[in-house]
Amino acid sequence: MDKIKIIGGNQLNGKIYISGAKNAALPLICSSLLTEDKVILKNVPQLSDITFLNSLLENLGLKVIEEDTLLESHTTKKYTYQADDIKELVAPYDFVRKMRASYYVLGPLLSRFRHVELSLPGGCAIGARPIDIHLSSLEQMGAEIEIKNGYVIANARDGLHGAHVIFHKASVGATCNILMAATLAKGITKIENAAKEPEIANLIDLLNSMGARIEGKNTSILTIEGVEKLHGATSTVVADRIEAGSYAIAAAITHGKIELINANAEHLQQPLRVLERMGIEVIEKPHSIIINGIDKHIIGEDIYTDYYPGFPTDLQAQFMALMTIADGASLVTESIWENRFMHVPELCRMGANINIHGHASAIVRGVKKLSGAPVMATDLRASFALVLAGLAAEGETIVNRVYHLDRGYEKLEEKLKGVGANITRIKETD
Ligand code: EPZ
Repeated sequence: MDKIKIIGGNQLNGKIYISGAKNAALPLICSSLLTEDKVILKNVPQLSDITFLNSLLENLGLKVIEEDTLLESHTTKKYTYQADDIKELVAPYDFVRKMRASYYVLGPLLSRFRHVELSLPGGCAIGARPIDIHLSSLEQMGAEIEIKNGYVIANARDGLHGAHVIFHKASVGATCNILMAATLAKGITKIENAAKEPEIANLIDLLNSMGARIEGKNTSILTIEGVEKLHGATSTVVADRIEAGSYAIAAAITHGKIELINANAEHLQQPLRVLERMGIEVIEKPHSIIINGIDKHIIGEDIYTDYYPGFPTDLQAQFMALMTIADGASLVTESIWENRFMHVPELCRMGANINIHGHASAIVRGVKKLSGAPVMATDLRASFALVLAGLAAEGETIVNRVYHLDRGYEKLEEKLKGVGANITRIKETD
């Protein structure tokens, strides 16, 4: 397994291009299953999760063509998808166990082909991660669902029909799945307590340009009038707000100054305000954000993770890394996932002073300096928090299990080296 070596202490300065968002690209890719025409996606990030989803879908019969294109003078990936010859309707265990977002095949396949089999995704390092909302909503839309041999087997012999579904939690995954399913269902579907993340607006825009009739974008009530058929369309993946927030912390924690090119400040309002309260200068521009930590005194601050537009759980670990060297105490409350403090013991190995209270709260008391150490993380965002701690720490940090980072951070070493970090990948064979 590859490792990342960081020699901490460099102040990071310069520009970083923010890639397309992984969590937007995954449902966009799966929506190509809804039509026999071509769906073209631009600004798709080069990540192992994307490669992985592409191979699952190719296995079903989806045609996938990859090309390089220029977007604002940056080389990005463009994919053309065509589902005109789907032969398989099964997402097997080997795929789903490696990537939970494989569940995005549920809505489109069931709606268009009236049958789907999905290996039931288990829990993962951050929580139990149930999919009951996806399944009960599909049942209300006329699906017959049984769980057999670890698989969800769903049938809709007469096709899906519209329904009024009320989510007990504003689930991102369920909102995307039910949106995709409802586009081809007979009649009107109304989703109450839908998630409002920017990645969902990206999906709604693509589906509407494919001929769907969805109203209520950016609100918690979505109304979808089913249509007979969808057609091809082209879409651009939105900038990754979590990647942007992660590199914002890289500037702050090294007392540097980084311009996040292509980042959308509107999607990051809560984290940017927290950074300001922690003493960091934030300049919002139309197509970028400047984060200035030069000569700034970092102050402790509290965060509470919540559904969008609340503070994103996917930036909790990275902000905690910054809090470890802030002046004073910070209280972190995690309300989305029940087990998302796995980075805490690793940060403590680097000299951080953090106490966890129950499952949901952690108190971080700032220390003067972190010191480098070999560390290991169990999920994507926790791994990035350790990279951040390594950038600020004295001496050498080795981050193990880099495959977590490769799932969600495109060209990580290249981007950080470009702003002055001393970071290298140690290949398994080295
Ligand atoms: C998405 O996961 C993201 N993943 C996660 O990002 C992110 O942490 C999460 O949304 C919250 O923002 C992708 O987009 C691929 P949810 P998702 O359904 O859709 C409960 C990262 O690091 N729930 O919005 O799986 C659930 O337990 C990843 O990039 C149910 O109870 O999350 C949680 O408490 C990690 N029943 C809450 O809802 C359900 O059927 C929100 O989960 C579904 C969810």
